[in-house]
Formats: sequence, structure tokens, C-alpha cells
Amino acid sequence: MFVRTASERDLAAIRALLVETWHATYDAIYGARRVTEISDDWHSIASLRARLTRPNSEFLVADDGKRLGGIAFAFATTDPKVVLLNQLYVHPDCQRRGIGRSLLDEVEASFPEARTLRLEVEEANSPAIAFYAANGFRSAGRTADCGGGSGMPALILEKRLA
Ligand SMILES: CC(C)(COP(=O)(O)OP(=O)(O)OC[C@H]1O[C@@H](n2cnc3c(N)ncnc32)[C@H](O)[C@@H]1OP(=O)(O)O)[C@@H](O)C(=O)NCCC(=O)NCCS
Repeated sequence: MFVRTASERDLAAIRALLVETWHATYDAIYGARRVTEISDDWHSIASLRARLTRPNSEFLVADDGKRLGGIAFAFATTDPKVVLLNQLYVHPDCQRRGIGRSLLDEVEASFPEARTLRLEVEEANSPAIAFYAANGFRSAGRTADCGGGSGMPALILEKRLA
């Protein structure tokens, strides 16, 4: 898989990947109905399209020419030294093949001014927490409102960038 910038023609495949990966990851934690509700909102084509043109952001896909294996979306905060990794999702069929790490490397390379990469992760999502720990992230607190507007608690992790 190679990592490239997402475009309009990827949106349907990105939505399909997110819906499938969200159900595989979160149904056991939040229940399938809640996952569908969140996905219909956050992963609608309109929400995804808005990210393509968001200033100071990077929307990436991992592609093998036939299908998408993963996606990442990150944006700089009002402080350009702090970047939020808003989404990192690798399709269940493609996990543990280095795609998550490749997407993360590209996010880091895309924001040369950044000194801190920050994200929020569900506390019960131990595979993701293990991935982030293996890639240099450390605990930086908690939020009561993961993603803004969800009302779901989450851990905040940060990685210091050189
Ligand atoms: C978490 C996720 C992004 C990791 O991406 P990935 O492509 O599967 O991970 P990689 O193959 O790049 O893994 C790199 C390293 O991270 C660690 N790691 C990754 N997944 C792990 C797991 N399930 N358990 C323990 N360590 C793990 C390992 O050290 C791994 O290196 P190794 O395979 O040589 O041992 C991906 O599994 C995923 O999308 N999961 C479901 C959705 C999700 O939870 N996203 C994050 C939301 S905040």
C-alpha cells in the first residue's frame, strides 16, 4: 500500500472503510446502534468532503491501486506547534501490516512545524492504545467529550516530535 492525499473520488470508499472499521472496533464497546448513529454523522459524505478543503489539515489514504487499506485525518490547532490526529483507521483485513505506522509517519512529515501530535482514544480500545504506545505516544490526560459533541469520555495521548 502507498500513502497519498485523499480526493473527492475516494469519499465513497473512505466512508465504507470507516463504517466497517467502526463497527468492528466499537460495537462491543458502544453497541451497534450507537456506532451507526455516530458513523452516519461523522462519516457522512458531506462531513468527509468538508475535510478535503479544511485549512492546515492533511487527509491521507493508504491505497494499493485496487482498494483502500486505511485512512488518516489530522489538522493543526490554532497553535501550529500542536497537531490533532483526528482519525486513524486501518480496515480489519489490513491491520498489523504496517499501514497504521505508514499513515502516522506521513502525518508527522506533513506538519514540519509541529512539536506535539495529540489524539483522543477510547479507554477500552486496548489494541489502539498498544499501537500508540509502540509509536511513542504517552498519556496526557482525559476528555469528557471525545471528538467534540459526542459526550463520550476518552484518554488523551501525545507524542513529542523532534
Ligand atoms: C490501531 C491501528 C490504527 C494500528 O494500525 P495497524 O496498521 O494495524 O498497525 P501497524 O501494523 O502499523 O503496527 C505497528 C506496531 O504497533 C503495535 N501494534 C499495532 N497493533 C497492535 C495490537 N493490536 N496490539 C498490540 N500492538 C499493536 C505493534 O508494535 C506493531 O508492530 P508489529 O506489528 O511489528 O508488532 C489499526 O489497527 C486500527 O485501525 N484499528 C481499529 C481502529 C482504531 O482503533 N483506530 C484508532 C482509533 S483512536
